[in-house]
Amino acid sequence: MNLYEELWKQLPIPGFVVNPLDNVIGLNVFAEQFLGVSQKLVVEQKIWTFLRCDNLISQGFERARSNNLTILINDVSAHGRNTSPSVCSVYISPLSSEEQNLLLLLIPIEGLGYQSNKMLPTTSAQSVIGMGEMLAHEIKNPLAGIIGAAQLLSISLTTEDQEMTDLIVQESKRIVSLLEQVEQFGDVTPPKFVNVNIHDVLDQSLKTAEFGFAGNIKMVKEYDPSLPSLSGDKNQLIQVFLNLLKNSCEAIDKNGEIRIRTFYNRSLGPIKLGQDGQRLPLHIEIIDNGTGLPDSIAKHIFEPFISSKNNSKGLGLALVSKILNQHAAHIVVTSKPGETMFRISFPISS
Ligand SMILES: Nc1ncnc2c1ncn2[C@@H]1O[C@H](COP(=O)(O)OP(=O)(O)OP(=O)(O)O)[C@@H](O)[C@H]1O
Ligand SMILES: [Mg+2]
Repeated sequence: MNLYEELWKQLPIPGFVVNPLDNVIGLNVFAEQFLGVSQKLVVEQKIWTFLRCDNLISQGFERARSNNLTILINDVSAHGRNTSPSVCSVYISPLSSEEQNLLLLLIPIEGLGYQSNKMLPTTSAQSVIGMGEMLAHEIKNPLAGIIGAAQLLSISLTTEDQEMTDLIVQESKRIVSLLEQVEQFGDVTPPKFVNVNIHDVLDQSLKTAEFGFAGNIKMVKEYDPSLPSLSGDKNQLIQVFLNLLKNSCEAIDKNGEIRIRTFYNRSLGPIKLGQDGQRLPLHIEIIDNGTGLPDSIAKHIFEPFISSKNNSKGLGLALVSKILNQHAAHIVVTSKPGETMFRISFPISS
């Protein structure tokens, strides 16, 4: 392989070369990944068969050809036939060859159609969390008194009236357990960071899920064995995946399936930048083929107390979001009926 071929191969953003008929005559590895198809299928075919995008790119091709100019277009939505849309900066440049070919580079900036935990206004969420924690603490004490008093009272009551005190005790205990969950949610203990193999975390979460709520649900593991370790709190990360798996289980029927995918993204473009600008190249996706997010709450799912379920508190994803924030990780979701994908992106431990 000569130097230029090597450079082309290593270029960490999707790159294409197209001829004057818009047929692809070359593409690099990241372009294959971006389109979600192999090079063999794409070469010598019209680029538009595989690349879904605003017609800004085809207009850009025309301008670049007629004026022999390099063109940069910002904020163009593009994706492959089965890949998620990304907003890209697009670079189109005539190649100085007799064939009048064009170089097309797509520099993804941000996923489109993603709902992310960055939408969560941290300060208001923190204040809800703080208030919840305080209330939980303060309400539990008088509740203990109410339970004790009802139990004492029940001794001197007829069996019929005891039903009432039993109800008081039972319902008060239910409130205590709810408050305990709120307290756990409000627990601000910082994560205890150690080097973690994410596949161990996932396997342990899957095992717990199988014994608990997941029963016989089909789980498909697609692990990238070359994944490096990350720095995290194992127990808190298990909590994250249990919450995501539980939500998926609740969204699918008995024929449903959950895929757990891990991969390492070496490209510069599609990588999300974390809180202090570090790269987040290690990805875990939990994908289910269930109902999809209900439209009415889709934009708010990472906020506390948002739920479409009877008897649920709507705390699962808020907790997930909080733990991931503390890990400098990022979570996004894309959803349509039949496919919901939560993707978590982590920095790697250095
Ligand atoms: N995989 C999924 N598929 C479809 N909808 C989902 C999925 N995950 C989350 N949701 C939606 O997001 C809402 C919020 O989820 P979250 O886990 O925060 O709360 P919950 O599951 O309703 O309650 P809790 O987790 O406290 O028991 C859910 O009620 C559901 O409507
Ligand atoms: Mg949940």
